[in-house]
Amino acid sequence: MKKIVITGAYSGLGYSLVKSLLNEDFKIYLTVHTQLQYQKMAEKYKDNPKVECLKVDINTSDKNKIYALKPDILFCNAAMPLGGSLLDLSIENIQEIMDTNVIANFEIIQEVSKQMIKRNQGKIIVTTSLAGLIPIPFMGAYCSSKASLIKLVQVLRQELKLLKSNVRVKMIEPGLYHTGFNQFMFDQKYTEKSYFKKEFDYLQKTDNFVSKYLELKRFDSIVKVMKKAILDDNEKFIYRKPLWQVIPAKITQIMLD
Ligand SMILES: NC(=O)c1ccc[n+]([C@@H]2O[C@H](COP(=O)([O-])OP(=O)(O)OC[C@H]3O[C@@H](n4cnc5c(N)ncnc54)[C@H](OP(=O)(O)O)[C@@H]3O)[C@@H](O)[C@H]2O)c1
Repeated sequence: MKKIVITGAYSGLGYSLVKSLLNEDFKIYLTVHTQLQYQKMAEKYKDNPKVECLKVDINTSDKNKIYALKPDILFCNAAMPLGGSLLDLSIENIQEIMDTNVIANFEIIQEVSKQMIKRNQGKIIVTTSLAGLIPIPFMGAYCSSKASLIKLVQVLRQELKLLKSNVRVKMIEPGLYHTGFNQFMFDQKYTEKSYFKKEFDYLQKTDNFVSKYLELKRFDSIVKVMKKAILDDNEKFIYRKPLWQVIPAKITQIMLD
């Protein structure tokens, strides 16, 4: 039975992905950020031998637990949100999101890639974001972290090809899904000392519009392609959803060139 490790699987898309895989032939290592989350998940899945829960804060040596498993499939889903204007955020805030979303994720990807190269098999799937393609005001630090991760994963894939390795790398680029992740980022910009205080009413209306009309309340479309990326044994690299958000994001990206 193949071993799959999924990070940041306590909530949102990662949690839904685990549920969608329960009937597949995998041993699922469901990893979560905190000890409390671990206790809750371990209790939930205590009678399911196909699921093992682990506490893996990707910013710590917990990462070693993943390496010890030598997974057949690694699904890097964990990420932190950070909203706020680039003028208002501290460098420490920006450092923290880069450390988590880029460095910690890539450290795991790099180490597990090396294990997979030795066996000449394995698959690494990374959740990035459409936000990594376009500059979104008040989400600049997050967009940049995902853009960096996208570039690292793209280059790693090219290098694996040069090695003629069977190790596959795939990327999931979701649009807006109502997991609470975006709301957290939206709210973080409303600070006492913000440069944008005069714009708060307008910004609040925009956030409400996005939450109400643009964010998908059901995760099926993205979970379906996350699962497809796991099951597909082909060269397809990028899985994006929903299409009606992908098209404007790609057009915006082209217009910025
Ligand atoms: N929702 C969207 O619209 C959207 C769009 C594009 C991409 N994405 C990406 O999809 C992925 C899942 O996000 P989501 O929307 O499902 O939100 P979510 O439920 O908040 O999932 C993110 C998970 O990562 C965990 N995490 C954060 N820091 C971590 C760390 N240091 N170590 C281990 N786990 C950590 C979080 O735990 P805590 O809650 O305890 O911090 C949380 O369980 C993320 O990579 C996100 O960037 C989401």
